[in-house]
Amino acid sequence: MTDTSKTATLSFDGQSFELPMFTPTAGPEVIDIRKLYGQAGVFTYDPGFTSTASCDSTITYIDGDEGILLHRGYPIDQLASKSHFLEVCYLLLYGELPSSAQLEDFETRVTRHTMIHEQMHNFFRGFRRDAHPMATMVGVVGAMSAFYHDSLDVNDPWQREVASIRLIAKMPTIAAMAYKYSIGQPFVYPRNDLDYAANFLHMCFSVPAETYHVNPIVARAMDRILTLHADHEQNASTSTVRLASSSGANPFACIAAGIACLWGPAHGGANQACLEMLREIGTVDRIPEFIERAKDKNDPFRLMGFGHRVYKNTDPRAKVLKQSADEVLELLGVQDNPLLQVAKELEHVALNDPYFIEKKLFPNVDFYSGIILEAIGFPTSMFTPVFALSRTVGWVSQWKEMIADPQMKIGRPRQLYRGETERNYVDIENR
Ligand code: CMC
Repeated sequence: MTDTSKTATLSFDGQSFELPMFTPTAGPEVIDIRKLYGQAGVFTYDPGFTSTASCDSTITYIDGDEGILLHRGYPIDQLASKSHFLEVCYLLLYGELPSSAQLEDFETRVTRHTMIHEQMHNFFRGFRRDAHPMATMVGVVGAMSAFYHDSLDVNDPWQREVASIRLIAKMPTIAAMAYKYSIGQPFVYPRNDLDYAANFLHMCFSVPAETYHVNPIVARAMDRILTLHADHEQNASTSTVRLASSSGANPFACIAAGIACLWGPAHGGANQACLEMLREIGTVDRIPEFIERAKDKNDPFRLMGFGHRVYKNTDPRAKVLKQSADEVLELLGVQDNPLLQVAKELEHVALNDPYFIEKKLFPNVDFYSGIILEAIGFPTSMFTPVFALSRTVGWVSQWKEMIADPQMKIGRPRQLYRGETERNYVDIENR
């Protein structure tokens, strides 16, 4: 099946093969190689998927050269300034901005699912207190499949819907509980009179001994961080969710796989790695030393929070967050924090250094989100869990899209095999 009369021709060994093409609504044209192996007996080679469209999607569009990010067609800067996280969740899940009634109904559905099964509290207590909250989240989210048996059947649209709402609603509760457990404080139950971001702050920072008031500007900054991380087309963790679910695995297991992938420092773990790097640099006068290390091919050190696989001009999310960072730091009166001074100077030096300019390495979203989360009071270990809870709606939307796609097949890449060819087993005494 193809939707354009255009074809591409592949020639080798004196033979030519016509390959159909797809025309996207935006972005590069796509050559359909699905029948290539059957027709020509060859594979294509693309480790890291730098030139491979792994699916047909209508959710998110990125133009990395222009620094554009659209959700269902709406630019991310408009969503960040005019919308809010739950409305963006609705947009990602259902394809259109909601009416007031639809939004109210959606917010009610999410709010009604914020508590987790009480038995899960015991599950948390099985972890060591010093476990990284991401490790706890991988385990607890995977364990949801042992608690919510009525939303495991991926072939039932109603069960898929319930699983989606449960995941979006419970992820802040789970992330906050992972944090509270790690610092030895009692779990805090969700409050349904608070909005999504404010409720998350409440569950992380309140204690039974005194009243905690969520600062609305901090809640707004939190909501913006969530909004800006909500989806990012076929990134590593989303592709992991899609691949895991292509086998028909249950949604909770697949989202746990996504969380595990996100944890890596080249992906969601970069916000934690970035703050740790700023701490290691420590003072502004040490910046040149670290810049030189980042440029040294023989040194594995990279400037965390800089560079992106797709964005080669600017990260549009970073632009919005930079402004939020300035607002929040001013509000909290922490502009003089030495770590933030290092961050600002590092950004300035890197943006003017020929190495970073030539390689198109700009601060990415994780550079600024780490700074804001630090100012709000989150420890670095909570940065990636915050990313995970924002990205849950993206994973869920992409998962739902994939399951509903009649062309869905189990993901099964092939390989360029360069190992030994067949040889006979050698008995141990003869080796
Ligand atoms: N510091 C120093 N050099 C860098 C950096 C960096 N942060 N990022 C890339 N380079 C260099 C790299 O050494 C390579 O140089 P050369 O061409 O001489 O070999 C060149 O730039 C291209 O790098 P690459 O690794 O081929 O690029 P990639 O598209 O595979 O990697 C990346 C993208 C995000 C993994 C990488 O830029 C990186 O490791 N950045 C630091 C980690 C980070 O901040 N990650 C968060 C990404 S945004 C949030 C998310 O989506 O998860």
